[in-house]
Amino acid sequence: MSKTLEMNEPDTRNRLDDMAGRNVGAPMDRPDGPAKVAGAAPYAAEYVIDNVAEGVLVTAPFARGTITSIDERSITGMDGVIAVISDERLTARPAQGTANETPVQTPLSIAYFGQPFALVVAETFEQARNAAKALKFDYSADDPSEIPFDPEAVEAEENDATRQGDLDKAMADAAHSVDITYYTEGHASAAMEPHAAIAEWDGERLTVHASLQMPNYNITELADSLNLEEDNIRILSRYVGGGFGSKLGVSQETVAASIAAMKLGRPVRVVMSRQQVFQTVMRRSETKQRLRLAADKDGRLTGFGHEALVSNLPEEDFAEPVTQASAFLYPGKDRELLIEVARIHRMTAGSVRAPGEAVGMQTLEAAMDELAEKLELDPVELRLRNIPDEHPASGLPYSSRKMEEALKQGAEAFGWHSGPRKPRQKREGEWWIGTGMATAARIHNVGEAEARVTLNGDGTVLVETDMTDIGTGTYSILTQIAADMLGVEPAKVLVDLGDTNHPRGPGSGGSWGAASSGSSVFIACEAVRKAIAEKLGVEEADLELSGGTAKGGGQEKLLSELAGNEGIAKTGTFKPGDAQDDYAMASYGAFFSEVAVNRWTGEARVRRMLGAFGFGRVLNAKTARSQCIGGMTWCIGAALTESLLFDPVDGHVVNCDLAEYHVPVHRDVPHLDVLMIEERDPAASPIQAKGVGELGICGGAGAIANAIYNACGARLYEFPMTPDRII
Ligand code: MOS
Repeated sequence: MSKTLEMNEPDTRNRLDDMAGRNVGAPMDRPDGPAKVAGAAPYAAEYVIDNVAEGVLVTAPFARGTITSIDERSITGMDGVIAVISDERLTARPAQGTANETPVQTPLSIAYFGQPFALVVAETFEQARNAAKALKFDYSADDPSEIPFDPEAVEAEENDATRQGDLDKAMADAAHSVDITYYTEGHASAAMEPHAAIAEWDGERLTVHASLQMPNYNITELADSLNLEEDNIRILSRYVGGGFGSKLGVSQETVAASIAAMKLGRPVRVVMSRQQVFQTVMRRSETKQRLRLAADKDGRLTGFGHEALVSNLPEEDFAEPVTQASAFLYPGKDRELLIEVARIHRMTAGSVRAPGEAVGMQTLEAAMDELAEKLELDPVELRLRNIPDEHPASGLPYSSRKMEEALKQGAEAFGWHSGPRKPRQKREGEWWIGTGMATAARIHNVGEAEARVTLNGDGTVLVETDMTDIGTGTYSILTQIAADMLGVEPAKVLVDLGDTNHPRGPGSGGSWGAASSGSSVFIACEAVRKAIAEKLGVEEADLELSGGTAKGGGQEKLLSELAGNEGIAKTGTFKPGDAQDDYAMASYGAFFSEVAVNRWTGEARVRRMLGAFGFGRVLNAKTARSQCIGGMTWCIGAALTESLLFDPVDGHVVNCDLAEYHVPVHRDVPHLDVLMIEERDPAASPIQAKGVGELGICGGAGAIANAIYNACGARLYEFPMTPDRII
């Protein structure tokens, strides 16, 4: 069964297509945009709350050991100091509930350098920061020479493996093969808005303003940690200045602010410094990856091997899922996918934008380039010959997949010169010029989502869910869906997000947010439509909603009139269903880049880059394009500059700010072209959308690496490809 869903099949049209040309898909401006640029959209730390005390986290100056005691008296006389607060809920990851009677409980065990273990609370931020520096504490730290920091120096444990057939034999029998080991360094998520929280406790209920991606899940974490009922907690995360995975779970600032507010009976604000964000929140694991690709004489893959070594702290569940796209992207019946985790004492490793594919695709696509060279085959052609008919391990059919279209249309739009290639063919002065390409792929995720849609008596529409907008455009797309489904202008729709008093959304992460929350709003609107049809006394199929009126059966009424005083409120629930298990689903694309490499300094500059992407229905052409551009910008960072460095002696993060950790700046980013390929994927979600948030980061660094080789002939196996490595 190699059925592929196509948008032109009749079953792939749905109501949103009948509404086409109105709002869904249009590049509508963000409704939240004006408030954001005017500074009127409050972020977590910006709420003005009476009598708020300020907390500053105190972090461990060693990598492994125990805080044996904290001397509160060392700071009690200082100006403005209110309290020191600490117990194991601050150091526990994941958070665990404990009974807690005294303000400071020791001992506290420490697992990484920079781990927060106490909160100093004072009247002002400056007083708290000053006292946090002065706080005395005793500890017993392990000798750093006995602590493992280097992932290659310890025995790793197997985390995930797929073995099928005999890869060694496939490699031995292959007409052409490559066997390459790559290294990628750690990444920081470094969202623009640092982690921040303000907690208020009224003796019974806790209200927390925090910067979080998933309030629907964070409320459970917080309830667990604080031993409270979820009903007694309200989390508000209306605006989030980026997350990139680092705000999927609650971090210490939210737990600490909550504990402090409950103990002191006073609102408490905690904002992490940029250095604390870098040192304590989350890192993407560095990786060592071995790629083995075996091909027949025509370039069809017969064997596929992808083995990765990643790291995390002891007892942490997460392992960077490096082989995630390798599982479904290319054929090869003899296959071996493996992820091993080294237990070391660098800070916690977790999800950073596109966990898995971001680093797994860039190496795979660099290896594919080398295979194409061996085959003397155009790299695009090699990919086209390796689009499998069915999932190579599970045998599942693919849902809609625009890989071929992305490769062909991307090549065309970029002006790709097809054919076998040779490096060092073009030079302009001191710059070698080259081009490179890569496939993009990111697995499709969805999550259970709920939203309430209310048609009000004044003809406006209210959408409520605790879903977040982390800069991605949730306010926009939910506005567009509700406007089209109910036939009102977008200006009449109010979307209210990020409040756990609302129905539970899916949260923002893993590129599942838009498809999942959009579907819940779509389903709620279907229910509202049904109620409108009943009130009008017509079949729903005959109902026509537009311009704030309902028509059908020869009747016409204003929506406001039908809604009446109490309005029409319906809740829509989207549950990932069978379709999600019946197909292998992913978003696909292709990257093309042109890079100049300086022949004397080894400096690499991306001159232009194009991404062609198919991710199901485009809900908002502007915000979707922005996601792609953001992802491609990360590719430039991953290829050329980004690298989270750990001191080999004591394991601390060396480059813990944006001056030392180099993300691409405007000077580094050329014009980025994005080609969005029209697609509907009915298996992916009721609104036929897949994920786009992370697709743009999945593979593009490989296209840049391949362009560097094509420019100057340097095949590098370590990312990022800094001048010292290229030269
Ligand atoms: Mo994402 S790294 O799942 O926010």
